[in-house]
Amino acid sequence: MRMVDIIMKKRDGGSLTKEEINFFINGYCKNEIPDYQVSALLMAIKFVGMSRIEIFDLTEAMLHSGEIVDLSSINGVKVDKHSTGGVGDKTSLVIGPLVASCGAKLAKMSGRGLGHTGGTLDKLESIPNFKIALSDEEFFSAVNEVGMAIISQNNNLVLADKKMYALRDVTATVDSIPLIASSIMSKKLASGSDAILLDVKYGEGAFMKTKKDAYELAKLLVEIGTRFNKDTRAEITNMNEPLGMAVGNSLEVIEAINTLKGHGPKDLTEICLHSASTMLLQAKLFKTREEALQKLQENITNGKAFEVFCKFVEKQHGDVSYIKDISLFPQAKHTYQVHATTSGTVKQVKALEIGTISMILGAGRKEKDDAIDMASGIVLNKKVGDKVVSGELLCTLYTEHDDYMDIVDRLRDAFVIDPTNKKVKLQLIAAEISKDDLN
Ligand code: URA
Repeated sequence: MRMVDIIMKKRDGGSLTKEEINFFINGYCKNEIPDYQVSALLMAIKFVGMSRIEIFDLTEAMLHSGEIVDLSSINGVKVDKHSTGGVGDKTSLVIGPLVASCGAKLAKMSGRGLGHTGGTLDKLESIPNFKIALSDEEFFSAVNEVGMAIISQNNNLVLADKKMYALRDVTATVDSIPLIASSIMSKKLASGSDAILLDVKYGEGAFMKTKKDAYELAKLLVEIGTRFNKDTRAEITNMNEPLGMAVGNSLEVIEAINTLKGHGPKDLTEICLHSASTMLLQAKLFKTREEALQKLQENITNGKAFEVFCKFVEKQHGDVSYIKDISLFPQAKHTYQVHATTSGTVKQVKALEIGTISMILGAGRKEKDDAIDMASGIVLNKKVGDKVVSGELLCTLYTEHDDYMDIVDRLRDAFVIDPTNKKVKLQLIAAEISKDDLN
């Protein structure tokens, strides 16, 4: 077999066989096929697409290109969740303790933030001493004892994705639905959980800009998971404005703590309760969503969900005194309040812009190895649909940088205020997909 023939076949609209896909993935992982040939094939896939069978074969080949985690030493049903990424998305920090407090097990591997999107690991590292690298034994024992653990992705997992993702990033081939789906699902399947919930975000601040693309990706992800005999479900959710009020690492941890105590923003609470109830149904711990929701609410009110969060932080060596007293989190050097200069109803809070500004303020990284500031970011005071009077607070920025005044007008402009006061409401959860919705 020759790689050039495989590239030519795909370029001309053909379908690749399982053997051809295995040849390319294995050869690439063994460094027998060079980056330039893989780049050419990725671009052909970007333009021509792939059939369902090709996507399943690609996912399978990628899945077996590294270690597959064996979670069998963890008792109970292991549920996993994955969000395609957004701004202010701290849902794992809330959903984990919620589902664990009801008896499900979350053994999660997470990533870091890049560009305008935040990463769960960065948020967790804003808790002093929190360790994201645990040995397998520590990881399994944390999940068994506490019900959850969140660690960095094992380096030996899905080697093909590690190599290919870096290549896609520099060859303009990230935005291909077959490549995104096989990349996400090979990692989720290799992580070893019994059930997977995918939060596919769409809109201005998301990977998928339209609901239609998000729907297509979500359906494909569910099809792949189902094919590999995992209970896989997806939610399609709105990322046209940031989720919750806080954007930035320790700011988001504080918001997650408040949400677990029942004082979180409405949208964040709604999405976390919905996702957690779906995961409890997947774990077969409840028969109906209503029962699951009732228990989740109960565990917020009686403090059990917050208790799990404290134990989780302790087990991963984090300083739990910060969780019990959030005033201990250090404040950024500069705080600046941004006020409205017009009146009306907030029509849009540009998620991409808020995420980008937050990164510029120090909360995120432009490049993979950039350092980040834990206390920097933005706390919104107004969201879509809120009324605003000129002079009212729109948001507060937090930064360690001394030259932040340049960004204040940009931040104000991220809030689009409609003077005609037309009613506007974002639909948070647009659709859900399970195997019953596949045709
Ligand atoms: N997230 C992934 O893990 N892979 C992609 O290709 C895109 C988003």
